[in-house]
Amino acid sequence: MFGSVSNCHNVKDFRNLAKKRLPSPIFHYIDGAADDEITYKRNTDAYEQCDLIPNVLSGVDKVDMSTTVMGQKLDMPLYCAPTALQRLFHHEGEIGVAKAAEKFGTMFGISSLGTASIEEISNLVKTPKLFQLYVHKDKGLNKALIERCKESNFEAMAVTVDTAVGGNRERDLYTGFTIPMKLKLNSVLSFMLHPKWAVDYFTKPKWELSNLKDHISEGTTVMTTIGDYFTKMLDNSMSWKDVENINKEWGRQFAIKGVMSVDDAKKAVDVGASAIMVSNHGGRQLDGSRSPFDQLAEIVDAVGDKIDVICEGGIRRGTHVLKALSLGAKACSGGRMYLYALAAGGQKGVEKSLSNLRNEIERDMKLMGVSNVKELTRKNLKFR
Ligand code: LAC
Repeated sequence: MFGSVSNCHNVKDFRNLAKKRLPSPIFHYIDGAADDEITYKRNTDAYEQCDLIPNVLSGVDKVDMSTTVMGQKLDMPLYCAPTALQRLFHHEGEIGVAKAAEKFGTMFGISSLGTASIEEISNLVKTPKLFQLYVHKDKGLNKALIERCKESNFEAMAVTVDTAVGGNRERDLYTGFTIPMKLKLNSVLSFMLHPKWAVDYFTKPKWELSNLKDHISEGTTVMTTIGDYFTKMLDNSMSWKDVENINKEWGRQFAIKGVMSVDDAKKAVDVGASAIMVSNHGGRQLDGSRSPFDQLAEIVDAVGDKIDVICEGGIRRGTHVLKALSLGAKACSGGRMYLYALAAGGQKGVEKSLSNLRNEIERDMKLMGVSNVKELTRKNLKFR
């Protein structure tokens, strides 16, 4: 029982289980961040700098935690942010995450660097789907991705804007993590020490960068680190004008992912975005940058009545979601909070992690004396 998915009661438990199950270069790719990982740590610590103030006796026999973000009604105010390479962590990959998100009536994102295709995902689930567009130097590729998402009826698209170059992920440098993976002596040893992962990896169909492979060979036949991929392949000349044009071309719910300043939040409104993800890419890009929760209030004050503000990153507990919603976020999203669980137990793991978090949100709302997320306001929160 101990060490099984059913005995994982929080994100920390899933992290421990993922660490046991994954070869170390893969675990550290998920778990690691940039430079000294100060921002990564702060992303979670920031939520602990303020306290919730409950009200009592307000009749909380039924709670409604649903929220509407980017025009999509979600049954819970937390969704699975897009993350790359999921089949490397568990053979069920994006398919497992999509099915788990659907069971919880929430949204999930699929990355341009995903290992399931836009079409596979679209045929699989009805739950709201968000495509994370990495704008590449290859304009034909960008166009094709947008077209495919349209054809496949994706509800929303998020353009990532915090990856002008690769972050300095030193854990990946130490472990030699690349895609495809290098089979060096230490990685082979690490595979042997994690036989369950290795058997699945080598016996299940080979994964590929399903949405990119017909356009570019980096990450498919040409080995690269993620940092080098960002630097070499992504369009670092991208401007607000380009984002505006992508929004026009897409013409549906459109988010800008990785906005951290009030000025940029205002520009996002000007280019017609429907949402912003206040995010620092899980601390994986600019170490020393501020955490989403620390920036949230200022951004909500500036644009919260014009655009959906999503607080992304660092979420480990239901109370973190409640705190972000109290400051005015419409929803929260996270990567590692479900990725450790995916690595630990595939779809079943993701379901258990979402269930833990949903139960926490529900319990915490009742203890806060609110029966609807709209009742969460700054009055419920005191900074120390
Ligand atoms: C990351 C990307 C791919 O590794 O989102 O941070």
